[in-house]
Amino acid sequence: MKLPAEATIYEVGPRDGLQNEARQVPTAEKIRFIDSLVAAGIRDIEITSFVSPKWVPQLADAEELARTMKAPEGVTFGALCPNARGLERALAAGLSEIAVFMSASETHNRMNVNKSIADTIAVFSEIVPPAREAGLRVRAYVSTVWGCPYEGDVDPKVAVDIARRLVDLGCYQISLGDTIGLGTPKQTADIVRRFMDEMPVEQFALHMHDTRGTALANILVGLELGVRDFDASVAGVGGCPYAPGAAGNMATEDLVFMLNGMGVATGVDLDKLIEAGNVAEQVIGRPLPGKVHRAGPFRRRSVSHKR
Ligand code: HMG
Ligand code: MG
Repeated sequence: MKLPAEATIYEVGPRDGLQNEARQVPTAEKIRFIDSLVAAGIRDIEITSFVSPKWVPQLADAEELARTMKAPEGVTFGALCPNARGLERALAAGLSEIAVFMSASETHNRMNVNKSIADTIAVFSEIVPPAREAGLRVRAYVSTVWGCPYEGDVDPKVAVDIARRLVDLGCYQISLGDTIGLGTPKQTADIVRRFMDEMPVEQFALHMHDTRGTALANILVGLELGVRDFDASVAGVGGCPYAPGAAGNMATEDLVFMLNGMGVATGVDLDKLIEAGNVAEQVIGRPLPGKVHRAGPFRRRSVSHKR
């Protein structure tokens, strides 16, 4: 197998995870959860969203959370940002990174941000350059690249064209979303190759939801083709509230278990990450689906020959 020496994990549990929970998690509990991820060695964490609290009430405490949390040296805290109001809020809260987001399918885009694809790009054209001038790093998501809950198949060319526009605006990386976990490995190879034809591999990441159990297989395909950056969410928490059927992202522990086992360094301590998954489960208050989260780390057992 052709594998890299290292890969980067971008943790989205506090944002993609908590946005979809029925229970409102108190700010202090979110802080405990994010601290546990930092303690596990995660370096990039999306902590919240500066979206409309009417659309995503679970993240209505974005200001308070972002103001209270200071990213330790070497750690970046980011947040979703859909428009000028979001940018204003992110700047006031002192964040150093935001992520803009849109879809490759019109219907999901409209359901998610109440705008056409063209109008969304127009909004981003007005916020990404000033965000960069203000010193922020800007990431971007393109959702529904593997398929749309409303429209079905999505033409990868549309996704590639959107990604190009976002890179031209100044986004440092485009995270390609399998928003409802439809992807299969062959499709992933096709999509990754299409993107590699258009941009350097460092310029995109994979954001795979594990709705149908194929996220790890898709990531492995991306890894072998040269992708190094992967989004994941601890214990598999997550989903988009405006994508029916969306379940959790690739569970971070499962990804780290696989990467560690293949000698691909992530800088993440799996035991501490499992602890962070346990904290996530406590603050969310329901059992979470990640496989390593449920099975625990592998420990060789001692054998007793006595009956
Ligand atoms: P809208 O209703 O069309 O916006 O929403 P508007 O400009 O007409 O404003 C309506 C109200 O919202 C106004 O308040 C605004 O001030 C307020 P009112 O006058 O009614 O009191 N407002 C805001 N408040 C706070 N912060 C803001 C903001 N903007 C407007 N930034 C909008 C448009 C984009 C705001 C809305 O549709 C929205 O917030 N959508 C967010 C949806 C969302 O967060 N979805 C989940 C994240 S995406 C995802 O999960 C996919 C991803 O993980 C990748 C993948 O899996 O594929 C990233
Ligand atoms: Mg997502």
